[in-house]
Amino acid sequence: VIRRASLLCHSHGAVNLAQAFPDYDAGPAAKEAGMAGIRDGYNQYTHTYGLPALREKLAQVYGKRYGIDLDPERNVLITCGCMEALRVLINTIVRTGGLGTRFGVVEPFYESFPIQVRLEGGEPIFLSLDPHTYRFDPAQLARLDGQGAAALLVNSPNNPCGMVLNEHEMAAIHDYCRRNDLLLISDETYEHVVFDGRRHRSFVEVDRELEHTVIVSGFGKTFSITGWRVGYIIGSAAVLDAVKPSHDYNTVCAPAPLQHGCLRLLELGDDYYAELAASYQRRREVLLAGLQDSGFTCSSPEGAYYILVDTRELRAAGGFATWQELVYDYLIGKVGVGGVPGGAFFHDAERAENTVRFTFSKSMPTIEQAVERLGRVRQEFLR
Ligand SMILES: Cc1ncc(COP(=O)(O)O)c(C=O)c1O
Repeated sequence: VIRRASLLCHSHGAVNLAQAFPDYDAGPAAKEAGMAGIRDGYNQYTHTYGLPALREKLAQVYGKRYGIDLDPERNVLITCGCMEALRVLINTIVRTGGLGTRFGVVEPFYESFPIQVRLEGGEPIFLSLDPHTYRFDPAQLARLDGQGAAALLVNSPNNPCGMVLNEHEMAAIHDYCRRNDLLLISDETYEHVVFDGRRHRSFVEVDRELEHTVIVSGFGKTFSITGWRVGYIIGSAAVLDAVKPSHDYNTVCAPAPLQHGCLRLLELGDDYYAELAASYQRRREVLLAGLQDSGFTCSSPEGAYYILVDTRELRAAGGFATWQELVYDYLIGKVGVGGVPGGAFFHDAERAENTVRFTFSKSMPTIEQAVERLGRVRQEFLR
């Protein structure tokens, strides 16, 4: 769905707020770090579980940031992006079979969660955030009762709705997984993209022994280097030992010079992270105002770099019978701004039909151009 929206944006010359990666270059520190890896001779395979110095550094970073004591040898595995991290975890659970092949997935979900589960022969069971507030109601966990689920996949800060789980929600989720012996797979790849003075809470702070929790994260979003393909898993020795063969025989290792580059990037100080969040927050403000002025119903995301809009009001005002008419024909074809139809993020048919995701992982001029074009929607339908 995302690719189709992007191709249509390309053919219509529309501003592409569908595909979520920066349309600007990585910063000078990242570029220099990447080049240094090659120059300094990191050009052969690394240890299959990741450059030892990078695992060591990540253990230190997690110790400082989240107060957890990690053994870099046993609790950290470097992967080719979060995507591989998710894949080897899901693959291992399905393959080893003992735990079952069903996975709880919270919707709206990162589009690859149910796809990866199905590709591995597993089956998603959907839980839902509140359709209006996007808060997580712990009563939703009852949907997993008696289903024989092996794991629960959660993502906070959330792609696509920007929700950031609060302490109570996290405690309820973890408690359910602990009581029912489910593995909690927490995708925290947007951990540094949180707004309004928030601090990201990691599930490692809730489950310090990593008894029921495994964290997936990466470097792509934090350093605007999505093409480097370096991510990682933080988990117990038992979980990582089970996952390692799958990783080893899939990819051997993440790109060696870029692992070295990531090690360098982890030396950046707090200022870097503060400016990253502030810069996304500025772009969030501009896009949010533009979308609201154009008749989309949406609230301010707490984190990540997406705004999920409800299109019902606009569809009624403009007489758009289907989401295809609104998103493909009108927004991309006539207005010249592309987003992703909700079908990528919802199992629920009504919410799939009535939502669209726009990303603000673009430069300010790109976002301003999109907002200017969206002004046409107001003129045509909302006088
Ligand atoms: C929630 C979430 N997890 C994982 C990924 C993939 O991350 P990576 O590029 O590190 O594989 C994305 C990319 O958009 C994402 O939004």
